[in-house]
Amino acid sequence: MPLTRKIAAGFLFLLAGCAVDSRNAPPVSAGMLAVAARRHVAPATLATGRAIYARRCTECHSLQPMEKFDAPKAAGVLEDMSRRAKLNSADQRALLDYLRIAREVR
Ligand code: HEC
Repeated sequence: MPLTRKIAAGFLFLLAGCAVDSRNAPPVSAGMLAVAARRHVAPATLATGRAIYARRCTECHSLQPMEKFDAPKAAGVLEDMSRRAKLNSADQRALLDYLRIAREVR
């Protein structure tokens, strides 16, 4: 395959990867920032929460659909998973803020 085709294929692959990520880990949006401001959650906390979700929560499996976190048992699952990902309490807090606000705005 010529080099340019290879680069193009690689680029498409990256784009596909981003598409999956932005569905299961929506980027911080203006709507999310507005909700965060009302809740006194700093914009940086949302960004941190998303980064943790995308990096640390993909160490063992791919990202789960956001709907999973609507289930009544979700709080227990998150507690368990945060321990498995070895998150400190600030990171866990940021992750919870991100997941809560991302689901509210979706
Ligand atoms: C050390 C490995 C590991 C890490 C890190 C990890 N998980 Fe998991 N996760 C698992 C395993 C294994 C399962 C399968 C179910 C089980 O064993 O409880 C799972 C299952 C899940 C499920 C499905 C639970 C259900 O009952 O349907 C969700 C949601 C989930 N993980 C979210 C997360 C989140 C969010 C993070 C980041 C805080 C995370 N996971 C980090 C190993 C991990």
